[in-house]
Amino acid sequence: MKSNPLVVTVIAKQFNGAGNVLLTLANRSGQPLPAFTPGAHIDVIIPGCGKRQYSLCSAPADHYEICVRLDECSTGGSRWLHQQLTTGDKLEISAPRNHFPLPHASRTLLFAAGIGLTPLLVMAEALAARQADFTLHLYLKHADQLAFSQRLCNLGACVVIHYSSEGDSLRQRVPDDLTQPDNAALVFCGPAGFMHHLQQLALQHGWDEAQLHSERFQSTSPLMAGDAFEVQLASSGARFAVGEQQTIAEVLEEAGIEIELSCEQGMCGACITGVLAGEPDHRDDVLSQQERAANDCIVLCCSRARSPLLVLDL
Ligand code: FES
Repeated sequence: MKSNPLVVTVIAKQFNGAGNVLLTLANRSGQPLPAFTPGAHIDVIIPGCGKRQYSLCSAPADHYEICVRLDECSTGGSRWLHQQLTTGDKLEISAPRNHFPLPHASRTLLFAAGIGLTPLLVMAEALAARQADFTLHLYLKHADQLAFSQRLCNLGACVVIHYSSEGDSLRQRVPDDLTQPDNAALVFCGPAGFMHHLQQLALQHGWDEAQLHSERFQSTSPLMAGDAFEVQLASSGARFAVGEQQTIAEVLEEAGIEIELSCEQGMCGACITGVLAGEPDHRDDVLSQQERAANDCIVLCCSRARSPLLVLDL
């Protein structure tokens, strides 16, 4: 089911490291905004561009902060937020959604590159508050890219910053703790190349897939096309054919069935729906290995079916 957007006011817009702005958002009604947990993100509705997803990087409180990097390849979203939006403007956002929760482990390694710091900073602060064993490794090209410098400073020796301009990239030097997977969780976020390289390194050093937790900014899903199949709605029994070039989400929307959609690329989790029968062909970047193996839910905007029929919990 679709949910109504929240209307917020931009109460501050600040520089936050080269190429980034930090936006502080408050409820127009003065009421507290919905609570969230570390790793959560919101959709921001950009006029003329649609929805964009940003991690919440404020300490959970009665306002939200998002940090937006100006993407040179921007299709308009980050450019509008950087160049058009000003303090005092109104913005429509979704309620927080979290498909990247902080895992439970006796030791947590957080690896962030660039703007991938935003969800991991909130996780690091939560771990510090409970005096947990953790290290946050942050990878940047240059020192002028450093965002959230005071908050990182407050985390003290639990933060290690690596500058590739000084010969300390992940490709040039592997931190010792990345070679020690025992009883640990590895949580990472950043550009696609960084994520892929880190995952390969972790697997080479003996980490199990189940210990790895990540969130992507860019979809890695292969083409969403594939064999045709049918979906059935459990509530009404209605059946719909999904053609080779269609997604389940498109077919259901054309039939007038309201579903929650946001990124439409299998990254944000907005459209995750229960599966009561049939076998999904998972093509998303949001479900965990365990969730995929359970085969009891599907990401409607990109995934397909291995069986001729999927019965959806709709
Ligand atoms: S709309 Fe984002 S995962 Fe489907």
